[in-house]
Amino acid sequence: MFGSASSLHWLFLGLLHANIVLGSASQCASFELPDLEGVVLTGKTYFKAKARVNITNLYSAIDTDTLPAFCRVELVITTNATAKSSANTEVWLPDDWNGRFLGTGQGGLAGGVTVADLGLIAVQQGFAGVSTDTGHSSTSTDGSWAGPGNDNAIIDFGWRALHLSVVAGKEVVRSYYDRSAAKSYYIGCSTEMQMFPDDFDGIVVGSPANWMSHLMSWSIHISLNVLPPASPSFINPTQWNDVIHPEVLRQCDSIDGLADGIINDPRLCPFRPETLACSPGQNTSTCLTLVQIHALHRIFTTYFEANQTYVFGPYYPGGEAAYPDGLVGAVSFAIPQDWAQFFVLNDTEWTMDLYNASVLRLMEEVNPGQADAIESNITAFTGPSHNGKILQYVGWADQLISSENSIHYYETVHAFMQTIGQDINDFYRLFTVPGMNHCMGGFGANAFGGAGQAASGMPPLSLDPEHNILAALVQWVEQDQAPSSLTAAFWNNNNVTAGLNFTRPLCLFPTRLQFAGGNPNDPASFECV
Ligand SMILES: *[C@@H]1O[C@H](CO)[C@@H](O)[C@H](O)[C@H]1NC(C)=O
Ligand SMILES: *[C@@H]1O[C@H](CO)[C@@H](O)[C@H](O)[C@H]1NC(C)=O
Ligand SMILES: *[C@@H]1O[C@H](CO)[C@@H](O)[C@H](O)[C@H]1NC(C)=O
Ligand SMILES: *[C@@H]1O[C@H](CO)[C@@H](O)[C@H](O)[C@H]1NC(C)=O
Ligand SMILES: *[C@@H]1O[C@H](CO)[C@@H](O)[C@H](O)[C@H]1NC(C)=O
Ligand SMILES: *[C@@H]1O[C@H](CO)[C@@H](O)[C@H](O)[C@H]1NC(C)=O
Ligand SMILES: *[C@@H]1O[C@H](CO)[C@@H](O)[C@H](O)[C@H]1NC(C)=O
Ligand SMILES: *[C@@H]1O[C@H](CO)[C@@H](O)[C@H](O)[C@H]1NC(C)=O
Ligand SMILES: *[C@@H]1O[C@H](CO)[C@@H](O)[C@H](O)[C@H]1NC(C)=O
Repeated sequence: MFGSASSLHWLFLGLLHANIVLGSASQCASFELPDLEGVVLTGKTYFKAKARVNITNLYSAIDTDTLPAFCRVELVITTNATAKSSANTEVWLPDDWNGRFLGTGQGGLAGGVTVADLGLIAVQQGFAGVSTDTGHSSTSTDGSWAGPGNDNAIIDFGWRALHLSVVAGKEVVRSYYDRSAAKSYYIGCSTEMQMFPDDFDGIVVGSPANWMSHLMSWSIHISLNVLPPASPSFINPTQWNDVIHPEVLRQCDSIDGLADGIINDPRLCPFRPETLACSPGQNTSTCLTLVQIHALHRIFTTYFEANQTYVFGPYYPGGEAAYPDGLVGAVSFAIPQDWAQFFVLNDTEWTMDLYNASVLRLMEEVNPGQADAIESNITAFTGPSHNGKILQYVGWADQLISSENSIHYYETVHAFMQTIGQDINDFYRLFTVPGMNHCMGGFGANAFGGAGQAASGMPPLSLDPEHNILAALVQWVEQDQAPSSLTAAFWNNNNVTAGLNFTRPLCLFPTRLQFAGGNPNDPASFECV
């Protein structure tokens, strides 16, 4: 698309002279929007280096004084003139621009510009960043904005607002710096893979919700097995944390060579909850009833339909500390109910206990906003005409989307590519993160520059390609050097201010992390096998 000799030439100049200032306060103040149909400029604000940036919306917040200087441009983009639907979009333009464009994503059903990642990833690393509220304002678990039947809002959320924002954002960048971005990237967690192959040259995606029909059915399956709290199969947080988790560690923690509280590959753990069955008279805060053991088996097992059709992966052993957040905190449960009510069935009276197999079929058929992004033929993006690269990651203790979903999608692409004689490693790589919860947090080395991590107190150890997945992607796209491993940091209490505990490798799937002996705080003591 771009990549012309002149923009590449400029890029090298930019890299050699990192102090070249391409934006400024006066440039921000005098910025005028190029003539773009349906796009209106609603704000431009200059932030000096280390100025306080304190911006909050329903989905994302930033409150920091650590950023380099940048210009914040706010846009309203008409998404369908007939329906008068629109999206709020922001483009953040650093003075010290690295010549690259970065789109950032959302999570769940949210509507809100990802100001946290625009600041703490894009501007912090010199990218011109764009993010949109996807056409509505809401938290990540609230889907009531979708109607029922609010088609334009659903399409905006599904793909249209982001695509139009990327197109407009690139024009803003070109006009502001007087040159186009040399390369375009995307970073998101929990969002779908994009459907416009030309929008980006490379994408980083964590634990994507790219199979909404099946993810929603699975969430309902999990909740029907262990909820409501009054149900005899309900497993309370004390049982998850103090009964099940220690037994998982007892049975499986040493399989990877090191008893450190982290299950490096839970697929190797043949967890048997039967050992926890209550003896006569035993207090159930120290054991499980038979009904609870059966429920645990069902949610720790791959979910199939009655006719053996694959629906979704399991909860894996190891993430017990986070599973009650998903369950008791009702985070995962607000979403499928809203999805069914407002996006699929158009019935605000519907509740999850009414679920049956035809609801999954309807979710597939209606496919709101084309939310099922499960195409295994991604050659339009990765083939020689575009040469796009994908870096994906997933935490083995994901409490909101079974980690297996990332593996399942990767493997369908892998299989397809093999049928056409292509090696998936040339364009699509998956890293698994032992102990990490959905997108971040949990146990183990889990900070490596993924979306939302820095904003949640878990920045990468450094911005180099070894420690920062976005830099690894840039190196792959621009220098054809594919990452074969990454090194992640574990900050004490998952908070950088508490200091570094250890760093550890992340393994390229299908390899897994094995302790080889030595000091466990030294990444060299581990191998990917
Ligand atoms: C950020 O803004 C909020 C209100 O929007 C305010 O409560 C908070 O004190 C501000 N933070 C700082 C550090 O000024
Ligand atoms: C735009 O909205 C109108 C009115 O809701 C609808 O009829 C039309 O199909 C929409 N167009 C597109 C491209 O979504
Ligand atoms: C609910 O409404 C949407 C949008 O109008 C439509 O596509 C879908 O088919 C409807 N669902 C059912 C079950 O009729
Ligand atoms: C079971 O143990 C819990 C926690 O130690 C305690 O609060 C509760 O009273 C005990 N129940 C019985 C019936 O002893
Ligand atoms: C069984 O699986 C197929 C998909 O292969 C699906 O179309 C069909 O509706 C399923 N039957 C039931 C009862 O869910
Ligand atoms: C399955 O659920 C749908 C949606 O609630 C309902 O319309 C349908 O009658 C149910 N089918 C059966 C066989 O219960
Ligand atoms: C895969 O997708 C490409 C690009 O969209 C298309 O040209 C090709 O025919 C597809 N291959 C198969 C086997 O479907
Ligand atoms: C990290 O710890 C500091 C100091 O205790 C605290 O102020 C801050 O809120 C914490 N950050 C997060 C994201 O929890
Ligand atoms: C470092 O991590 C280990 C293993 O998770 C943990 O046991 C230990 O308490 C941590 N150290 C500190 C200072 O938090």
